Amino acid sequence: MENRRPLIAGNWKMYKTCSEALETAGKLKDLVKDVTDADVMIAPPFTALSAVSDVVKGSCVSLGAQNLFWENEGAYTGEISAAMLLSAGCRYAIIGHSERRQHFGETDEAVNKKIKTAISSDLIPIFCLGETEAERESKDTFSVLDKQVTNGLKGFVTDELETLVIAYEPVWAIGTGKTATSGQAQEVHAFLRSWIEKNLGNMLAKSIRIVYGGSVKPGNIAELMNMPDVDGALVGGASLDAEIFSKIVRFDK
Ligand code: PGA
Repeated sequence: MENRRPLIAGNWKMYKTCSEALETAGKLKDLVKDVTDADVMIAPPFTALSAVSDVVKGSCVSLGAQNLFWENEGAYTGEISAAMLLSAGCRYAIIGHSERRQHFGETDEAVNKKIKTAISSDLIPIFCLGETEAERESKDTFSVLDKQVTNGLKGFVTDELETLVIAYEPVWAIGTGKTATSGQAQEVHAFLRSWIEKNLGNMLAKSIRIVYGGSVKPGNIAELMNMPDVDGALVGGASLDAEIFSKIVRFDK
């Protein structure tokens, strides 16, 4: 995988109170303290970000947000700005997760604005895309992904996207226990990398990290990481337990 540094990211979704988040983050920090060959990120709920930031400060575990809003401030009840996330210790922001698209009506246009905001605020965006089961069955996977990536990255020039991470998350594999085979993941990752090459140039295509998400576990991480275009993982359920997640960080059963 050229010399792209692997990223193993944990998306805690709407799980864990503040004290539960602190406990898991504390354990994880100890379990991965000797890891130097991968970037590790956890995205707790907003309410726990600040407290978890104090726990992981100075360790190899970085903090991410599960979402952000594109305005700087204003009358947007319930929303969180990039500046708020930075001040809570975040380095990353997950953007366009399929659960946000599905349950909260997030469109490609909203995703595009959020990526812009993250980049201009120096947050590393993890741009999620993926097809549904019906789209895969009707052989629309590549046209769906083409549309998501084209709209999501509309208006950017190559230099702005140096830190961007793309997360391929087939909707049918999220939280279902059905992982894409390593071959299926590789096929889509290669497609996305060639899209980047065609539209944003060879240099970015070589350096951009494309991670896989959808039922990643200790038992399948090694095989996924063996694929030339898989540069890491976005892990949901299996990131909630520090011990299990630490095995994924080590690509270990
Ligand atoms: P999962 O979730 O690992 O529980 O399938 C992945 C994700 O939603 O990012």
